[in-house]
Amino acid sequence: MEMTKKMQDAFNEQINKELFSEYLYLAMAAYFDAKNLGGMSHWMKKQAGEEHSHAMKLYSFVYDRGGKVILKAIAAPKTEWKNPLDAFNEAYEHEKFITESINKLWDAAFSDKDRASMAFLKWFVDEQVEEEANASEIVEKLKMVGDSKSALFMYDAVLGKRE
Ligand code: FEO
Repeated sequence: MEMTKKMQDAFNEQINKELFSEYLYLAMAAYFDAKNLGGMSHWMKKQAGEEHSHAMKLYSFVYDRGGKVILKAIAAPKTEWKNPLDAFNEAYEHEKFITESINKLWDAAFSDKDRASMAFLKWFVDEQVEEEANASEIVEKLKMVGDSKSALFMYDAVLGKRE
């Protein structure tokens, strides 16, 4: 059964949000590179790559269900943050926003009795639990780092190990 036009629009909206997420994290990577925080930049580049794969997962699903992908403009992200904590805090807030968006997409699938979309979106619901947990952990650790330059230097190296 093909997805409805309503679901196609909702999926295309989510593709745009995932591509914006990729762009936002790439902007954060550029901010960290400018500050010589190569580990944090590496973490953000990996995250940007994950967001790209989320967008592509949605892209493939739209076609598998007989829909059409319609790409919209990607908004320009910010370029500056007050400090690393400010940037990661924004990443955490952004993930909460994405979780809300996935939940709304699931609700739309439910009201459409679109079981295939509901089953497909389960992966994203689970993924968002992880996405929020990862960002939140870094925010809490950066709070511990506080104003210590040496702790920041060490934590940057830890984040640089992300695979
Ligand atoms: Fe695609 Fe970070 O959620």
